[in-house]
This record gives sequence, C-alpha cells and structure tokens, in this order.
Amino acid sequence: MDVWASGEIYESYVGRWSRQVAKEFVSWLDQPAGLRWLDVGCGTGALTSTILSTANPSAVVGVDLSAGFIDYARLTVQDERATFEVRGADDLPDGPFDVVVAGIMLNFVPDRIGALRRMREIGRTVGTYLWDYADRMELMKYFWDAALDLRPQDSEHDEGARFPFCNREGLQGLFTEAGFAAVETRAIVVPTVFSSFEEYWKPFLGGQGVAPAYLLSLEQDAQDALRDEVQRRLPVEEDGSIHLVARAWVARATS
Ligand SMILES: C[S@@+](CC[C@H](N)C(=O)[O-])C[C@H]1O[C@@H](n2cnc3c(N)ncnc32)[C@H](O)[C@@H]1O
Repeated sequence: MDVWASGEIYESYVGRWSRQVAKEFVSWLDQPAGLRWLDVGCGTGALTSTILSTANPSAVVGVDLSAGFIDYARLTVQDERATFEVRGADDLPDGPFDVVVAGIMLNFVPDRIGALRRMREIGRTVGTYLWDYADRMELMKYFWDAALDLRPQDSEHDEGARFPFCNREGLQGLFTEAGFAAVETRAIVVPTVFSSFEEYWKPFLGGQGVAPAYLLSLEQDAQDALRDEVQRRLPVEEDGSIHLVARAWVARATS
C-alpha cells in the first residue's frame, strides 16, 4: 500500500517537511564544492534541489522508481547540473560518485542492506535519513495511533511497526551490516505547523504515501471516524493552528 505517483500531492503531505530536513542534512554532510552526487529515491527532488542550492555540486543524478515523481522533479528542478532517471535502488548507475544520499527511502526498499552495499561500492561518502515513524514523526504518529485504536486489526500498516529500524540504533545496524566501519548518526527535528485541522488533513485525502493510501482504502464511514478521532487527539491552539514536530534520524559514513 505504498503509493508514490503524484508529485504535487506528495509535496503537500510530506515533501515540504523532507525539504527542511534536507537543508540541515546537506549542511551536516559538509562536502566541498564541485562533487558528483547521486540521490537515490529522489522522489520529487526535495534533496536534489537542496544539494544544488547549497552544496555547489558539479552534477547530481536523481533516480527513483516512480515515473510520476521523476516527471515532477524534471519539471521543477531546472538546473543543467541535474539529471533524473527512472530506476530502482537495485539497479543503481555505475559510479564513481563522491557522495551518495537517500532521503526517506531506504525503509521502502525490500533489500535495503543490498542497496546500501551498492551505495558504498559506487560512492565515497554515503548519507541517509529516515523519519522517526514510531515516535516523533508526529503528523503520522497521531494518524496511526488513532487508526490502530479504532482498527487494531490493521496494525501491519502502521509505519512505526513496519519500520522498526528507523532510529539511531537501527540505522547504525544497517550501515554496519552493509560493511561500513564507522558510522555517525544524529537526529534532525523540524517544526511542522498547520494553520488549521483542514490544512493538516487535506494531504491525507490525496492518497500519496503510506498513511494516505491506507485512509483511502477504508469505507467512507471509517474514514470519517478516523478523521474525527485524529482531530480529537491533536493539540489545537486557540487560533486553530496545530504545532507538531517531525524528527528524522540521519547517518553518514565514508568508505
Ligand atoms: C518518502 S518518498 C521520499 C522522496 C524524497 N527522497 C524526499 O525526501 O522527499 C520515498 C521515495 O522512494 C521511492 N522508492 C521506493 N522504493 C524504491 C526503490 N526500490 N528504488 C528507488 N526508489 C524507490 C518512491 O518512489 C518515493 O519517491
């Protein structure tokens, strides 16, 4: 039930928050200018465009399985240093690349150790970040906590349960298993502020990503009940706004 097709809707759901993590992530990687980067699972181009605007690369290649997202990235990232290709993490281009990165995507790859090993083979520095689904990716956590209280039979859809390695220890374990000797990790926390419940909820109705796709798979009555339960739980300020945070776990290693 992982749906990645419409770039615009994905951006309003989670792409805009991933962009904020990307800024801090690229700054933390602290790479010199003039390097050749590969962005694996580049999606709509959140990380690619940050690399272009802040790291002064000589080239960035973005690859993703979703033709719809690659179309969106091609349209919106207008930079002659960037190229995009539809291809999967199990079919990465030959290197060498100076830096290989993957934002919010390794958890969706069935053979993530194999993908990381290949990233290590073709790249000198490898970096990645993943949402802290089970804890402080709050916009999703409120959704799943409410969903599983109402429908415990659907627990296998919960991203917190599906991706238990999306934390500091899990990331360290993945990198070690992929053959990296030394891994550095940290958290990046970004505020996710919504002016109203409607602004929070609308992207879930777009069906892009795991929780929205799950929502649309329910009957209308169940969707309405879930919306009401999420709304009941969310902390709403006097002016109607909702102030949450999104935490990502980040890792980097050099081979
Ligand atoms: C949550 S999105 C992240 C996109 C982008 N990196 C960002 O930070 O906004 C996950 C992306 O991984 C892509 N993806 C999932 N499995 C993949 C695979 N096996 N190979 C390449 N891309 C994959 C999806 O198409 C989607 O674009």
